[in-house]
Amino acid sequence: MKVTPTVLDQDQAAFLIRQRVARLATADSAGKPHAVPVCFSFARASVYIALDEKPKDVPVTRLKRVRNILENPDVVLIADRYTEEWNLLAFVMVRGRAELLDPDTEEHVAAVRLLRGKYHQYEVMRIEENPVIAIRPERAASWGALDEPDASGPKVLDTIHGRRSVRRYLEKGVPEDLVEQVLEAARWAPSPHGRQPWRFAVLTRQETKERLADAMGEEWRANLEMDGQRAEIVEKRLEGSRRRLLDAPVLVLICLYLEDLDAYPDAGRQRGETTMAVQSLGAAAQNALLAAYDSGLDAGWMCAPLFCPEQVVDALGLDRKLVPHALLTLGYAEGDPPKRRSHLPLDELVVYRD
Ligand SMILES: Cc1cc2nc3c(=O)[nH]c(=O)nc-3n(C[C@H](O)[C@H](O)[C@H](O)COP(=O)(O)O)c2cc1C
Repeated sequence: MKVTPTVLDQDQAAFLIRQRVARLATADSAGKPHAVPVCFSFARASVYIALDEKPKDVPVTRLKRVRNILENPDVVLIADRYTEEWNLLAFVMVRGRAELLDPDTEEHVAAVRLLRGKYHQYEVMRIEENPVIAIRPERAASWGALDEPDASGPKVLDTIHGRRSVRRYLEKGVPEDLVEQVLEAARWAPSPHGRQPWRFAVLTRQETKERLADAMGEEWRANLEMDGQRAEIVEKRLEGSRRRLLDAPVLVLICLYLEDLDAYPDAGRQRGETTMAVQSLGAAAQNALLAAYDSGLDAGWMCAPLFCPEQVVDALGLDRKLVPHALLTLGYAEGDPPKRRSHLPLDELVVYRD
């Protein structure tokens, strides 16, 4: 995206783009002011504001902001950040001329796509049927700590640092809306071509978990015996794994779903496509783990389904196009996990090549 440097500089543009709400001030032909909070997108050096279909007393073209723009296109948009730490206060103010983009014009279509990309709520609103307000900035002013991280936003790194694998849970049940929040986070994972090559099965009933544990246990027993493990070790490991499945209040099985991916005539590219899908499944799992931790839940990752995908599909009566890859356990940790693996420091993981 190219930002017209003479109107907004890079810091101002970056700040504006990060904000999710701004205030739009308009005035009628007599100069009487009017201001409303708006959701907006900023791209190609214009600000776009949807006129949504929320029940309002008047059709969108009778809205005061729209009538004002038709009478007097001079507007001001201000996006600001308030926090109790006053060294983080900041705002960007854009003065410009507003116009209404008619539906189905090229710029309108692009603006609707932008707005839907930024606000998923617009995906199910018929904003494409209404004009979109476009502001062409003429002057910009700003103040404060524009490029500080947003103090009021979620602290992702705190969640990342806090999350840990949990293997023993309290008996306390998990509210359905929290499970849905975890799945919602998984749904937003990056994926190849945006095709979301994963599906989830949620297991809460004890009989279902037992069916799964039996199916996976049988396969694992055969593998451990093939490895020549001593009988008592085999029993101990099987029992431990079974307990983990049965004692976790919720299990989320994550399956690979390759049907919507691109097909290639050569094996090399096809393998690449599948690898991308697996990478994306990992991203979905991590989103779920972080969302769980962020909403006060704990979670763990079990790789067992990967080694007996067909048995898992059969035991749960799933679509045969699904390939089980991972099982997430969800619940409330019985206590802090006893062992925390240390993580390699950055200087052992990173090289810089300037
Ligand atoms: C692909 C993958 C498979 C895993 N499989 C298992 C598993 O089968 N059983 C288990 O207890 N933990 C499993 N884990 C969790 C790791 O053991 C755990 O993430 C690691 O020990 C680091 O600990 P932490 O998650 O608490 O930071 C798996 C993790 C990943 C990424």
